[in-house]
Amino acid sequence: MTAQPALGFGLGLRTDHYEDILASRPNIDWFEALTENYLVPGGKPLHYLDRIRAQFPMVLHGVSLSIGSHDALDREYLKALKQLAQRLEPAWVSDHLCWTGVAGRNLHDLFPLPYTEEAVEHVAARVREVQDFLGRQILLENVSTYVTFRQSEMSEWEFLSEICARADCLILLDINNIYVSAYNHGFDALDFLNGVPAARVRQTHIIDTHDAPVIDPVWALYEEALRRFGKVATMIERDDHIPPLAELVTELDQARRIAARTLATRAAA
Ligand SMILES: [Fe+2]
Repeated sequence: MTAQPALGFGLGLRTDHYEDILASRPNIDWFEALTENYLVPGGKPLHYLDRIRAQFPMVLHGVSLSIGSHDALDREYLKALKQLAQRLEPAWVSDHLCWTGVAGRNLHDLFPLPYTEEAVEHVAARVREVQDFLGRQILLENVSTYVTFRQSEMSEWEFLSEICARADCLILLDINNIYVSAYNHGFDALDFLNGVPAARVRQTHIIDTHDAPVIDPVWALYEEALRRFGKVATMIERDDHIPPLAELVTELDQARRIAARTLATRAAA
């Protein structure tokens, strides 16, 4: 496994903020760019991406890998992703542990998988294929789920951990998704945190509701994650109802304060 870069506290890169980021040099350590927004060569998005990349570290986050699908991996997508990664030199590349379509159709949603040995083997083989092609490890993010499969043979965290072990890939922990899934399926969110291998956790998302500020139980769970995983890269994610950049920077400062306090206690313990 590669050494863990200490990226610090980041935000999702959103079109609405391009100019503000360049003009104000905000207190943000890094940005997460949505892969799919930058796959078309030329144009305004790449122009801004390059300019912002010149000033900030970045990671790439995708929604189209469909690593759990039975369709063949999309070679065109992978080629474009590889090119983008060569251009951007992101600290890492991530996508979701899910499937997004079938029979060549993209359904534009992140669907859950049955947690079975068969699915572990299937996904792990595909992750290895992707990593070989890209020439780098990828991070898989846990999605929020609203259904479970009767066929499941293990917990979600065992499923994720087993895939990571077999494919030697890494983890993007979405704290909000753990909270939502724990609520929906009646498991203890701490069991999830305790059940994944700490050495593979590279990044967290601390909100994924996509349209509202972070809620208190999610901050509390983030604190638990810090206790277990230490100084892991943190990102505030917001997709809809994008507030002004300054508002997100304030929210990020709250994450910084929680992390400073929690990590100090952890070091003293
Ligand atoms: Fe997320």
